[in-house]
Amino acid sequence: MAHRIAVIAGDGIGTEVMPEGIRALEAAAKRFNIDLAFTTFEFGSCDYYLEHGKMLPDDWFEQLKDFDALFYGAVGWPDKVPDHISLWGSLLQFRRQFDQYINLRPCKLMPGIKSPLAGREPGDIDFYVVRENTEGEYSSVGGKMFEGTEREIVLQETVMSRVGVDRVLKYAFDLAQTRPRKKLTSATKSNGISITMPYWDERVAEMAKQYPDIAVDKFHIDILTANFVLHPDWFDVVVGSNLFGDILSDLGPACTGTIGIAPSANINPEGMFPSLFEPVHGSAPDIAGKGIANPIGQIWSGAMMLEHLGYQEAADTMVKAIEDVLSEGNSQVLTRDIGGLGNTLSLGHAIAERISG
Ligand code: NAD
Ligand code: IPM
Ligand code: MN
Repeated sequence: MAHRIAVIAGDGIGTEVMPEGIRALEAAAKRFNIDLAFTTFEFGSCDYYLEHGKMLPDDWFEQLKDFDALFYGAVGWPDKVPDHISLWGSLLQFRRQFDQYINLRPCKLMPGIKSPLAGREPGDIDFYVVRENTEGEYSSVGGKMFEGTEREIVLQETVMSRVGVDRVLKYAFDLAQTRPRKKLTSATKSNGISITMPYWDERVAEMAKQYPDIAVDKFHIDILTANFVLHPDWFDVVVGSNLFGDILSDLGPACTGTIGIAPSANINPEGMFPSLFEPVHGSAPDIAGKGIANPIGQIWSGAMMLEHLGYQEAADTMVKAIEDVLSEGNSQVLTRDIGGLGNTLSLGHAIAERISG
């Protein structure tokens, strides 16, 4: 039976890297005899907003809920629609309404790519950021008082529920258990943020009791960012709140040479709702329209989608194809962010060909 995939390219380079993501998936599907049925949606983009006055149609949940997965490009075009409107009107709704409470973001220095960190080789940077994806600092609890006056106050609460914290921690500990180093690092800030973050630490300590074989450490987010740069080899599985995870999952990939290759899986582990796969990067208005965006983040997200759908070998083949094309280092093929002279199409085609075998 066909796996039904909803495709939403979104804005800017989302529309440029999405075709390469699909090309790679189709190559893998053909080689491994997987039946993928793609359905494209125009909503979830700023152009849709300009036409309809909203990012999504009222029945978006009904339209999408029975898909096996969502494949997203990137959303946001701040010159057309304020970011908080476009993002709260689309991506953040998907994450919350489909209860995609895990945001899994691998961070790996690939062969052939030069890390901006001196002396780092593939193998030195290879970890996962597990980001809480439905609550925390991204809350809709808050408001404004005395608006427009000098007494104006704006307030936005951080929300941590026991269920919400424990389930992301459990996922991260379980992941750490599958890794050779069996190490988990918690991102905290319990020295300054005196209620929610000590609570996060307490739940980490409580969960750790159930995983005696996992080595657990924690760092305040400020020094943790420094340690990502100074000692990326220390990390294996890093778990953080929504905002901390967001920051770490741009910093980590930057340490691996470019955020253009970083993938992510927004997962509803119970499978009650579809999970969503998208690159970590955004719509990149500064390079949009030039055809030079790196498509690897989108392609690798496609690999995570196949893994989620149960096709491990096909997923591994996609990642291996990415690694092979990067190691070959053909400057005519590689995009500029990784030192090449090629473009989105040249890199996307080379990877798809390699996937085809
Ligand atoms: P961005 O990730 O779009 O771009 C940051 C920088 O990285 C830019 O210089 C860009 O050119 C570069 N870059 C990003 N992806 C690249 C790629 N594939 N290849 C080569 N270079 C790449 O972040 P931003 O500028 O902060 O945000 C732009 C818009 O995207 C905003 O509207 C923002 O809200 C939105 N955004 C959306 C998502 C998402 O859809 N998941 C994620 C981040 C940002
Ligand atoms: C990401 C993005 C989003 C986030 C934005 C665009 C709301 O930065 O997916 O990392 O903060 O989660
Ligand atoms: Mn981000």
